[in-house]
Amino acid sequence: MVAPDAKPVTVPDFQAAKSRGSRLTMVTCYDYATSRLLDATSVDALLVGDSLGMVIQGHPNSLSVTLDDVVYHTRCVARGAARALIVADMPFLTYQINADEALRHAGRLIQEGGAHAVKLEGGRRMAATIERIVAADIPVMGHVGLTPQSIRRLGGFRVQRDEAAIFEDARAVADAGAFAVVLECIPAGLARRITESLPIPTIGIGAGAGCDGQVLVLHDLLGMFDDLQPRFVKRYAELGQTLRAAVQQYCEEVRAGKFPGPEHEFR
Ligand code: KIV
Repeated sequence: MVAPDAKPVTVPDFQAAKSRGSRLTMVTCYDYATSRLLDATSVDALLVGDSLGMVIQGHPNSLSVTLDDVVYHTRCVARGAARALIVADMPFLTYQINADEALRHAGRLIQEGGAHAVKLEGGRRMAATIERIVAADIPVMGHVGLTPQSIRRLGGFRVQRDEAAIFEDARAVADAGAFAVVLECIPAGLARRITESLPIPTIGIGAGAGCDGQVLVLHDLLGMFDDLQPRFVKRYAELGQTLRAAVQQYCEEVRAGKFPGPEHEFR
């Protein structure tokens, strides 16, 4: 846990962490109450991921998430966090059409959502877009390897093994000015080599222990989401079971006339 007056995490802190070899931590977050809880831990960054399409909205993938959805959830998260860096995901088709549109949309996540940085998927093809957004002083986190917005082309959520292409993508993102890059579902050896060769921090998910940091979807980490159970997830709690047991007990106590008790009544 951190002191209540801990210093806010900044984009330069990410670079400093890489330089001194301190591992970075990021988890997804989509709402105010959870943001407050997470901000009291030592997690470095909260990612308002477009994974909200799956864990919050119940879709099979992230393709239908809109910019308004992410602005809304980012606003909720921003109200709850005074310390962690808030990174907002750019949804599918909000940055692929052209760089001007991408900049306008990134700007909404900062101005309306209260994000400190944005994340977008893609390597070499997105380099000019990253440059454009960064030139407006909006920090960008890249995302290469398995890019979930490309699942129609990739054929599903699979480990990506085209090592030369992934290496070039990661380098292009760094050269374009991104302050960090997510490496998703790639062989651990490749992730380690990319991490050693890039000047910016790498944040791995399904990319092994050789990255500069790690990210997980919070609902996976807490055992609250069973639709997909990727091998790279470690469940640090079984909050799904705890939630079901608590609500079941509440139902039983209401039905048995045990809740509310006298201590819950106004007199
Ligand atoms: O949307 C998301 O949650 C992500 C992480 C899995 C990196 O992009």
